[in-house]
Amino acid sequence: MKIATIGRGNIGGGLAKRWRATGHDVTEFGSEGGNATGSDAVLVAIPSNAIENAFTKVAGIGDAIVLDATNAFTGRDEAFESLAHQVKSHVSGPVAKAFNCNYAALYDEIDSQRVPPCCLYAAESGAVGVTELLIRDAGFHPVSAGGLGSARMLEDHLGLMTAINEGGLGRFFYRYAMPGEL
Ligand SMILES: NC(=O)c1ccc[n+]([C@@H]2O[C@H](COP(=O)([O-])OP(=O)(O)OC[C@H]3O[C@@H](n4cnc5c(N)ncnc54)[C@H](OP(=O)(O)O)[C@@H]3O)[C@@H](O)[C@H]2O)c1
Repeated sequence: MKIATIGRGNIGGGLAKRWRATGHDVTEFGSEGGNATGSDAVLVAIPSNAIENAFTKVAGIGDAIVLDATNAFTGRDEAFESLAHQVKSHVSGPVAKAFNCNYAALYDEIDSQRVPPCCLYAAESGAVGVTELLIRDAGFHPVSAGGLGSARMLEDHLGLMTAINEGGLGRFFYRYAMPGEL
């Protein structure tokens, strides 16, 4: 799959490395932007307050499936239901919220776990297949939280993640499972 990442930091660069390892063709853009023409999927992995600016500098997104990994560390525009909805306002393809509830600092430890850690996501129906594929190819197990209407819940979930982290667990993986699977 041809993938472009808007942002090449902890998340963009980290996922690019993992996706390349599974055979994807990944191009990373930083704050200078770039041309995403021909991409099947586009990852948005930039500070939340850079969303508006970033989409003025990236051309050629077209109908690509867009995965938004942003969290509201640097604020949000409450005119949008979620950061993912703000991203959606700039693109024409289906959008998913994914990877925002997983620590990039743990990417290098994914492969040494007993089972794949989970990655919560919320996606429009047209984005589900590619989102699940790219979550699996990053080494995670996808868990759906429903449609894009759940994106804000995933963004707000950061508060609970931070509380758990600071409650003593530190940065963590998580696993949602059906009874009998654990
Ligand atoms: N780090 C985590 O564990 C984690 C987990 C879940 C979600 N998130 C979220 O994911 C997003 C990225 O986090 P990160 O840790 O990867 O950040 P990061 O390491 O600081 O990387 C940020 C990237 O955004 C680019 N950027 C900044 N301003 C831009 C602009 N105006 N236009 C285009 N690109 C711009 C930077 O470009 P340059 O390369 O040119 O500087 C850089 O590549 C944030 O919303 C964060 O809250 C982070």
